[in-house]
Amino acid sequence: MITIGIIGTGYVGLVHGAVLAHYGFQVTCMDVDDYKITRLREGESPIYEPGLDKLLKEGLQSGALSFTTSAEQVVHNSDVIFIAVGTPSKMDGSADLRYVREAALSIAQYADRDKLVVLKSTLPVGTCGTFQRYFDSAVAGSGAAYRIEVASNPEFLRQGQAVSDALSPSRVIIGTESEHAERLLQSVYSVHADAGIPFLCTNLESAEMIKYAANSFLAVKISFINEMALLAEKVGANISHIAQGMGMDERISPHFLQAGPGYGGSCFPKDTQALVDVGRRSGEELYVVQAAIAANKKQKQTMLDRISETLSYGGSLKGRTIAVWGLAFKPDTDDIRETPSYDVIQGLSGKGAAIRVYCPQGMKQAVRLWPDLNPSIEYCISEEESAIQADAIVIMTEWEQFRRVDWNAIAGSMRSSFLFDCRNMFGQDKAVRGRFHYYGVGDGSDRRHYTLREAQ
Ligand code: UDX
Repeated sequence: MITIGIIGTGYVGLVHGAVLAHYGFQVTCMDVDDYKITRLREGESPIYEPGLDKLLKEGLQSGALSFTTSAEQVVHNSDVIFIAVGTPSKMDGSADLRYVREAALSIAQYADRDKLVVLKSTLPVGTCGTFQRYFDSAVAGSGAAYRIEVASNPEFLRQGQAVSDALSPSRVIIGTESEHAERLLQSVYSVHADAGIPFLCTNLESAEMIKYAANSFLAVKISFINEMALLAEKVGANISHIAQGMGMDERISPHFLQAGPGYGGSCFPKDTQALVDVGRRSGEELYVVQAAIAANKKQKQTMLDRISETLSYGGSLKGRTIAVWGLAFKPDTDDIRETPSYDVIQGLSGKGAAIRVYCPQGMKQAVRLWPDLNPSIEYCISEEESAIQADAIVIMTEWEQFRRVDWNAIAGSMRSSFLFDCRNMFGQDKAVRGRFHYYGVGDGSDRRHYTLREAQ
């Protein structure tokens, strides 16, 4: 039986490790974070991801899954080692490869027999080739007879659906120059092959680029529909109908055409920047991707300006109370990285508004990671509490539970009744819209917009 090692227990590494243990492999997960590993050994997931707790407990109970902080142990235990550490953006937009390099160094240091190193982290094109050359010379230098092979196997899982995406991915991409590595990875993923999930085997560079190209394309799609939404508002059209009509063309597809406050998260903002950087280094300006990044920035600013212009007097929001619902960058996750909520809260509190927030999962992370914003935020235990004496509610994330609130009670407890629905959750809901001065995104058919002063 092939033994598996995972270096990095973030969203990708942890979910991947838990799923491979579920398939019956012996999996050792390693992370340098002592606290995280201690919690994981007790079956406690450091992240909120539906279905993950169950898989972790199952893996720990069966003994298929183990956790360590020792690089030596994970390398020693494993035939196939997945690297799934973070590749954060540097100031210039390029990917910071420090953690991947550290993982590669440990593998070279502790390898004692043939190893397959599989890069799951999103890496600039050419990185896997560089690592292959590094391992070749490290092994040759030590005079050893084994081989360390490299493969690229990008991950497409979405947060909030990571477990189901890992159990049933849209495709498996394997990039490698080695037939042996390809066969080994096909064995690791034999469950997927049996389930008819498509495989694409290609060279290292193409596999690396598929991930960036796919994420950048989706970011372009979102920025495109957001741009159309702003135009729709000006010309009296409705973006939901436009998206529906566009999506009926199967070449376009209805997915990722949901207008909103701009994309966020750990992938799209970082990967689009990194691809632009790779383009520049390679002498190719990527105008389309750059435009998607610029449009995303504009979208967040437009949401902020809309709320602020509607509620402010003389440019100030002093004396206004705004309830913000949703901090996570999308529903069913506690991840607040690059979330548009941050920009909106920062802008509104900067103009003097009191901010009361509620998010089903994101508040713990915000308390920890937003020291700059915390003094101006009041965290609430429910949607209802956040709305008491508020002038407006701003919906930043489309959590399903927001549909089930008691709108009568909420509207009745507010000081003024403005609803900025940045996710168009209630665009078709006449009852909710009727209770508020309602602002969706991209609905130009409703032009009766009031400012707070007019409404009073
Ligand atoms: C993304 C990719 O989908 C996934 O394949 C890759 O592995 C990692 O990056 P994720 O970041 O988890 O996954 O979330 P995703 O569902 O793609 O949403 C990203 C952002 O786009 C969110 O802020 C979301 O709100 C926004 N979005 C998405 C829209 O604004 N409109 C849409 O129609 C879809």
